[in-house]
Amino acid sequence: MGEKDTKKEQNTQTVVREFEPADQPAVQQIFYEGLMEMVPDTAFRALRHHPESVLLYTAMTVICFTVTMSWWVIGLLPVIVLSLRYFYSRRVIHGYLRKAMSTDMGDIERFYMKSPGSYMWVAVLQGRVVGVVAALIQQDESGVVVELQRMSVARNHRHCGVGSALGQKVIEFAASHGYSSVFLGTTAYNPAAHRLYQRLGFRCVGVTNGYVTPGATQSLMEWIFYRVSHHHYRINLSKN
Ligand SMILES: CC(C)(COP(=O)(O)OP(=O)(O)OC[C@H]1O[C@@H](n2cnc3c(N)ncnc32)[C@H](O)[C@@H]1OP(=O)(O)O)[C@@H](O)C(=O)NCCC(=O)NCCS
Repeated sequence: MGEKDTKKEQNTQTVVREFEPADQPAVQQIFYEGLMEMVPDTAFRALRHHPESVLLYTAMTVICFTVTMSWWVIGLLPVIVLSLRYFYSRRVIHGYLRKAMSTDMGDIERFYMKSPGSYMWVAVLQGRVVGVVAALIQQDESGVVVELQRMSVARNHRHCGVGSALGQKVIEFAASHGYSSVFLGTTAYNPAAHRLYQRLGFRCVGVTNGYVTPGATQSLMEWIFYRVSHHHYRINLSKN
């Protein structure tokens, strides 16, 4: 059986169901691993999307060279800049993780399953949890809306339609309850996340540049070495 057939079979065997207390360790692990992938994503891939940062690092290099007149500076500065970007991305994302673990992700049953307006689903393949997604009901100017959160799929079960099945679950849930739209925000630069949401029918409705990630300290060093944009996606469900 080819890789494509195996993935197709995994897709048909995957079941999406409500979170159960015994799922907590697996869900936390998948959430943690997905989040840690954001470290190289924001440290390195994000650079391509932030010309202002490249300009700033170039100016820093020119100033350092003018002051020191050393070619070593030209050679070493890019390495130092990339290391600092990695360091600060890791620090902010750890801060974000700590915040999540001290709120919803620390006691999932209480936050998502016992509180009104919060829900979590898991994707299960052969008895193992391979993906997670959550939904929060909110009120905004357009009516009652659903925020999609915590989307993550275990690395070796990606590209099999698990993320799509989880996203579809949230959309179906919102539609069946008559909520007007589903929205989400992401600072991911990996094409997988954007492709997934676009494939599900979401449209990018705005971008916040210089977004302050929950858990960030907003220090000058973070401002220089950790810069992300927050993409807002929305799908309208109102019947015309
Ligand atoms: C984003 C994520 C949830 C996608 O899950 P998945 O199960 O692989 O998604 P699917 O298999 O349902 O694929 C959905 C679409 O995205 C595309 N896709 C998946 N991975 C991709 C990748 N690495 N590059 C480009 N497109 C990708 C698929 O091809 C598919 O589009 P198609 O049907 O047009 O081919 C997963 O990569 C993940 O958990 N990443 C880490 C955590 C993260 O970034 N979460 C989102 C934060 S908001």
